Amino acid sequence: MLVETIEKPTSPWRDFVVPQDWHRFTDEDHAVWDLLFERQCELLGTRIVSPFLDGIDLLRLSHPGIPDVAGLNDILMPRTGWRVVAVPGLVPDAIFFAMLSQRVFPVGNFIRKREQLDYLEAPDCFHDMFGHIPMLAHHDFAEMVEHVGRLGLAAIAADQGDRAARLYWHSVEFGLVRENGELKILGAGLASSFGEAHFSLESGTVERLPFSTARAVHTPYKHDAFQPRYLVSASLDQTIAEIVELTPEKLLSI
Ligand SMILES: [Fe+2]
Repeated sequence: MLVETIEKPTSPWRDFVVPQDWHRFTDEDHAVWDLLFERQCELLGTRIVSPFLDGIDLLRLSHPGIPDVAGLNDILMPRTGWRVVAVPGLVPDAIFFAMLSQRVFPVGNFIRKREQLDYLEAPDCFHDMFGHIPMLAHHDFAEMVEHVGRLGLAAIAADQGDRAARLYWHSVEFGLVRENGELKILGAGLASSFGEAHFSLESGTVERLPFSTARAVHTPYKHDAFQPRYLVSASLDQTIAEIVELTPEKLLSI
């Protein structure tokens, strides 16, 4: 497997990486991916930022079946230097941010069952690969996520990890942005959710507040329910520019 030949022995996250074992996935696993993929693409339509749709095409994610990590990396690494590694479940925040800081994105080595299409205790490979990987093919977003990783490590070192977690949450996972005047989904948590994608854009019962890094850092979030509020950027470029300009010192003081 590619990752085993190039990872640095000193990387703190290497013990969390497992082989994806793509051949272990059953026909039913692949069928669940296909069902989720088709359903979500139809649901999203153009309600998502256009670079996400470009990434889906570029990475050939519409190819039937669960993507294999090596195949994704063959396309992603030459483009933006990001690579995907398989993990057995959620990794600790310090490990996650260390991975991001080295342009490594962890994806679950499992997929949900057909009877739990809309419920997940832990992010599976559909959330991780469909939700996150397309945007990592976008050069400026790719740089931003690496920067979030560095900010996360600095925040954890200062015992302020929550600041980085909230910044990440309100941009990479649940951010909304305007594109050509229309409200669109940016975050992977929304992109991969059947229930929350439309809810985030259309519900009249949630708050939608202008995105700023200061607001993101101080806005709590929910792990286990739809978000009560979303932060909306004037554009994808605004989200990227504000986050890339954020220094660790500023993150800890805003
Ligand atoms: Fe995620």
